[in-house]
Amino acid sequence: MDLLKELYKNPFVLAPMAGITDSPFRSFMKEMGCGIITTELTSATGLQFNSEKTKKLMEFSSKQQPVGVQLFGTDLKNLEYASKYIEDLGASFVDINLGCPVNKVVKKGAGSALLKDLKTLANIFSCIKKSVNIPVTAKIRTGWDSESKNALEVATLAYNEGLTWISIHGRTRAQGYSGLADWDYIKKVKEHSPIPIIGNGDIHTYKDAVNNLKTSGCDAVMIGRGCLKNPWIFLEASKNKIVPRDFKMLFKTLTGHFLKYEERIQLLQIKKLSAWYSAGYKNSTDFRQKIFQIKEKSELLDSVEEFFTSIDTPLLDTRHEKFLMGGHG
Ligand SMILES: Cc1cc2nc3c(=O)[nH]c(=O)nc-3n(C[C@H](O)[C@H](O)[C@H](O)COP(=O)(O)O)c2cc1C
Repeated sequence: MDLLKELYKNPFVLAPMAGITDSPFRSFMKEMGCGIITTELTSATGLQFNSEKTKKLMEFSSKQQPVGVQLFGTDLKNLEYASKYIEDLGASFVDINLGCPVNKVVKKGAGSALLKDLKTLANIFSCIKKSVNIPVTAKIRTGWDSESKNALEVATLAYNEGLTWISIHGRTRAQGYSGLADWDYIKKVKEHSPIPIIGNGDIHTYKDAVNNLKTSGCDAVMIGRGCLKNPWIFLEASKNKIVPRDFKMLFKTLTGHFLKYEERIQLLQIKKLSAWYSAGYKNSTDFRQKIFQIKEKSELLDSVEEFFTSIDTPLLDTRHEKFLMGGHG
């Protein structure tokens, strides 16, 4: 498969989000029109030690292709083993997490800590590249802090080591999720980068996706939290217009993908996603409170259907509200 061709075919790609983008969610988003998919970060050490929990996180179905598995770690032997494992599993690419700001990860020198240690990073790129025949990519932040933004240097290093693209979340590690993603900086990196760049951060609407793709000149844009409030965002970005909000069809598609789960988890997922999708609609606070009390699946589905089919007011802009201000990248 020509991975870059796939990227250009649909440049609106799904961001990895730990605890959210599990296999059913990824299948659901694929059906909702997203482009390339990456799993949430997976521990290379966990794979080396055959952890069932780690393996479960990276499960994917063939319908999600092209799908890449994201790895984190620093131990070259573990990274080599894990990359080969991912290739044998049939993933389309290996992605390396260089953006995780979480203390537990950076203390071990992994995630965004590697942006400060380009010598180790070069060894990691080279080791993974030599271990597999599938493409290797990386997801970074703009740098460790505002004094040490080095995305272009990392992109050039990645190019020299034969990686296929770099995704950039437009914040530094020090910023966490505060402030705004710096798309001017992403644009500058793209202008000088020898390797394709996927821009990421704060894409809330299809218009943001289309505009940021155009104005930054990036090869693609990556959408995370935006698809948790608007699951149609990928379809809309591809068509460059709003698509009708058919909530009935949406929940049919969604529940179809979550059927694999035991009922308790299905209920939780439906509650979580419906709560996010209700953001910006009238009475969404009452709706959220109500559904989290419900224990029966049929009662839950009835309440969800009633809420979404009775919407008769326009969607309010909720981008100023804080929403999921933490994550692994
Ligand atoms: C809950 C959550 C979990 C995340 N997990 C990961 C992860 O496993 N790997 C990663 O590279 N980025 C992770 N991220 C970062 C996102 O991929 C993305 O870079 C970030 O949310 C900014 O994009 P957005 O504004 O479109 O959400 C996570 C973000 C959130 C909110």
